[in-house]
Amino acid sequence: MTNSTLPLPPRNAPTWSSRLTFILAATGSAVGLGNIWKFPYITGENGGGAFVLVYLLCILLAGIPVMIAEVLLGKQGRSSPVFAVQRLALEAGRSRHWRWLGALGVVAGVLILSYYSVIAGWALAYLPKMLAGDFVGIAGDGSSAIFKSHLARPAVLLGWHSLFMVMTMAVVIAGVTRGLGRAVEFLMPVLFVLLLILLGFAIAEGEFMQAVRYLFSFDNAAALTGKSVLIALGHAFFTLSIGMGAIMAYGSYMPPAAPVARTVWVVAVMDTCVALVAGLAIFPIVFASPDLDPASGPGLLFVSLPVAFGGMPAGVLFGTLFFALVSVAAWTSSISLIEPAVAWLVDSGRARRWQAGVILGVLCWAIGVGSVLSFNDWQDWHLLGGFNWFELSDFLTANLMLPLGGILMAIFVGHLYSTQAVRKALDIEGWLYRLWHFVLRWVSPVLVAVVLVYGLIGVFT
Ligand code: PFF
Repeated sequence: MTNSTLPLPPRNAPTWSSRLTFILAATGSAVGLGNIWKFPYITGENGGGAFVLVYLLCILLAGIPVMIAEVLLGKQGRSSPVFAVQRLALEAGRSRHWRWLGALGVVAGVLILSYYSVIAGWALAYLPKMLAGDFVGIAGDGSSAIFKSHLARPAVLLGWHSLFMVMTMAVVIAGVTRGLGRAVEFLMPVLFVLLLILLGFAIAEGEFMQAVRYLFSFDNAAALTGKSVLIALGHAFFTLSIGMGAIMAYGSYMPPAAPVARTVWVVAVMDTCVALVAGLAIFPIVFASPDLDPASGPGLLFVSLPVAFGGMPAGVLFGTLFFALVSVAAWTSSISLIEPAVAWLVDSGRARRWQAGVILGVLCWAIGVGSVLSFNDWQDWHLLGGFNWFELSDFLTANLMLPLGGILMAIFVGHLYSTQAVRKALDIEGWLYRLWHFVLRWVSPVLVAVVLVYGLIGVFT
């Protein structure tokens, strides 16, 4: 079958205005709730230092190599993930069924956004709470009580979830390359500065050395199980926004001359730094408050940081600003989560961009209702593997679909796609190229497959 007989859209993806805009947009996608909300709480649940080490190894041995491969697929394919992969597969003389790799990403993106929006809604809800001074002078138990009463009201959670979905869809409908680039250019640096201020507070007022020890020593290594390793691996994919086509879609908007590997490196390093700084800002406060538990789960950020803001001068201002920025970080990520699905509907001629935005927005919103209820009415309704709806959405996507997508991308680029084309399209040469190619071919897929199988055995037995 030749290319011309296939129902493939033309290579007409729009382009970012510069390499910097791509870096910022990709960083906007990567840096989000994963770094500031999820990384600290899963680190707390899985024992600290040993988990952080495994996570960093996963970033290095699977995350970065696969991210380079994924951006490359987008840049070469120049259309929505489903069609980009199909086009490249056919060009390489492989089966068109590779498009199911793109389809897996479309489903994963919708599922992740459904609960991501609920958590982003918490951050939005904390804006008026902060501004009203609800947390001034508060201790850990008071902050926990406010958070618990917030979770107990499904109608309120639903309202904020709905608002966040509307915000996401508004940008998606307006188009990714317009507007988004300019917004992240300004907001990302502000977020970094604010995190550093929080870090300063944590050093001055919290149990900083205890937190450093917790994050970088193996004191609690016994808490690390097969399931923890799977969670660390899944999180490496989640935090870098890889394995589901989000970064592939962004890569397809990349200017042809932009260097892939160097750009990926910058984004991955920034993403990792934000997660570590978030951990170093949150844990000193947790350890300084006897009633806060590092293993308390998804509420960790929302309970511990208000205590810090409540105790610092101008805390009302900083606290409000902080939750505004967390909301923005979530916003720039949520847009990329839905981009593969939107681009697929548009590219396949099934819908216009605004129609795709509305249809998918409603779908994600509806699935997200299950996550809203997972924190109150459906809390104890356990589906598969003892997980409730929210936990299952998170587990299926981050710990199953993203790693699976990653393995398939590594196999495709490493073994099935033309080595010559890959070499030509990449900005690394010599030993560095050989190292990347070797790791992508042999280390990443094998590592991910082994962790996936062991992790799943650990979860379901
Ligand atoms: N990387 C985002 C975060 O850390 O919050 C979440 C995310 C965005 C995951 C886009 C996957 C994705 F495709």
